[in-house]
Amino acid sequence: MAPDERTLLVVAAWWHDLGYAPEIRVTGMHQIDGAQYLTSMGYPSRLCALVAHHSAATFEAEERGLSEELAAWPHEEGAVADALWTADMTTGPAGEAISYPVRLDEILRRYESGTAVARAMTRARPSIEAAIARTATRLAN
Ligand SMILES: [Fe+2]
Repeated sequence: MAPDERTLLVVAAWWHDLGYAPEIRVTGMHQIDGAQYLTSMGYPSRLCALVAHHSAATFEAEERGLSEELAAWPHEEGAVADALWTADMTTGPAGEAISYPVRLDEILRRYESGTAVARAMTRARPSIEAAIARTATRLAN
């Protein structure tokens, strides 16, 4: 990964959950709210798009009826997006390293079954597992 891509990844990792801040809540979907805030503040479009689509946000947007809103940002595929999803989905709430199955279990304990997030994260599992596998392969090479 080129140095500028690494910087983008680190910045995206720091900002990816910004949309949980109540002060910037608009749609209630943190990926979109965070990306919208960063876009409004003039941050680079690629950073905003990575935040918008982090960790298979497409599924949550579908569950919430917000696919059109999410489509405002292109869905990047590649090493940076995969690494961002991997970092997000293999880190626990206190910043500790955990496996994806443990992380998914933790998420599904926080959100009641049948909620948009629980449905989305369950449906997203193959996509997230694929991103983690691609990242592991890249790191091994
Ligand atoms: Fe998130």
